[in-house]
Amino acid sequence: MNYPTNPLDAVTHQDPYPYYETLHKNPGLYYDEALKLWVASSAVDIEAVLNHPACRVRPITEPVPKVLLGSTAASVFGNLVRMNDNDKHKSLKKIVSAVLDTLSHNKVLASADHWGKYLYQQMLPNKSGAGLTDFCYNMPVYVVGDLLGIPNGELPQVSEWVGSFIRCIAPGGSSEQIACGQVAAEHLQKCMMTQLEQPLSGEPYQNFLRGLQHLASQTDSISTEQVVANSIGLLTQTYEATAGLISNALLMLSRMPELHKLIQDKPELIPLLVRETIRYDPSIQNTRRFVAEEATIAGKQMRAGDVILVVVAAANRDPSVNPTPSVFNINRGNAKVFTFGSGSHVCPGQTIAITIATSAVRCLLDNGLDLQRLVQPIQYRTSLNARVAELEMI
Ligand code: HEM
Repeated sequence: MNYPTNPLDAVTHQDPYPYYETLHKNPGLYYDEALKLWVASSAVDIEAVLNHPACRVRPITEPVPKVLLGSTAASVFGNLVRMNDNDKHKSLKKIVSAVLDTLSHNKVLASADHWGKYLYQQMLPNKSGAGLTDFCYNMPVYVVGDLLGIPNGELPQVSEWVGSFIRCIAPGGSSEQIACGQVAAEHLQKCMMTQLEQPLSGEPYQNFLRGLQHLASQTDSISTEQVVANSIGLLTQTYEATAGLISNALLMLSRMPELHKLIQDKPELIPLLVRETIRYDPSIQNTRRFVAEEATIAGKQMRAGDVILVVVAAANRDPSVNPTPSVFNINRGNAKVFTFGSGSHVCPGQTIAITIATSAVRCLLDNGLDLQRLVQPIQYRTSLNARVAELEMI
């Protein structure tokens, strides 16, 4: 099989991992002239970049992408915890993490089991590939939407809006995708505002949205607009990353019949399958950092305005942190995993993502999903950073 031509092409390549393994050794951290990006791929370089104060999540000259300016999408984007650094990031991260921490595992599990069964029933009439792909995308959004307090009847529409909004803010979106995402952002904002206008019927943490609002009311610097933006942010951060985790885990089972049999006999091992998939074939392959001022980063002299592609999927295969990295081993134990990032922006949704994906895989296997019927070769969603196998069945 041919190697990918570059680390962006690798994201949706059939097997990018042998290529990634060469990147750590040679050339290490390098500047890709064609892409105009620095590329970091080893564990040590990625830790250095993600923890360097000069490395920011947005270019300082363009905190919000120019194409969004003047739209609701711009206001949502500009207020996301994921898209800010320093003090604004700190205060938003505090409330977002606190709200996610209030949630009991049993509550997430109950919601995931409920929506897994419901969505499986929805795909039953044809059990087609499109049905399975829809299942993978919808399940995470339905669960997080439910936990946010969105009425059940609105979840299908919300899931569509979230998909449109993501396509609008992802690097490389077309003008049509940007226009569509801007409309979706308006709908999502209105949906959250409507929920916040309802009288409070329970305790302040009755759902994510109320919890965020409650915590924001105790912090001068956080506005309702920011609460709404970050409730939408929870949905967008969940959407394709968790869909890809579900589909990539199913793909592992389809490729490893012995493991499939073991998991069918012992479904209590599904969380281990999900965790090793996060290391081995992650749904998020890379993220970016923008250099704010001249600095030496991971031993290289960089200038303000430089951009670093942080290939987390490659670092998961770095033998200096994970021995025999190309072996899929659900009993690996304490693997070092970069899929959820590192440093101040590390993902606060890891536990929820693992619970949702575990429940999704269990639901599909319990219902006898036949993984031998997957159409080959596997197609991946077009993306520069997310690796989401879109599974179809013959
Ligand atoms: C398999 C699923 C997921 C993966 C692989 C993933 C991965 C990531 C990564 C890599 C980052 C950091 C990006 C960076 O530093 O550039 C991140 C941030 C974030 N994630 Fe996740 N995520 C997943 C699921 C979730 C879920 C389910 C939620 C919430 C319910 C969530 C909420 C967030 C938030 C709010 C941030 C921004 C944190 C910050 O900027 O401080 N994620 N995620």
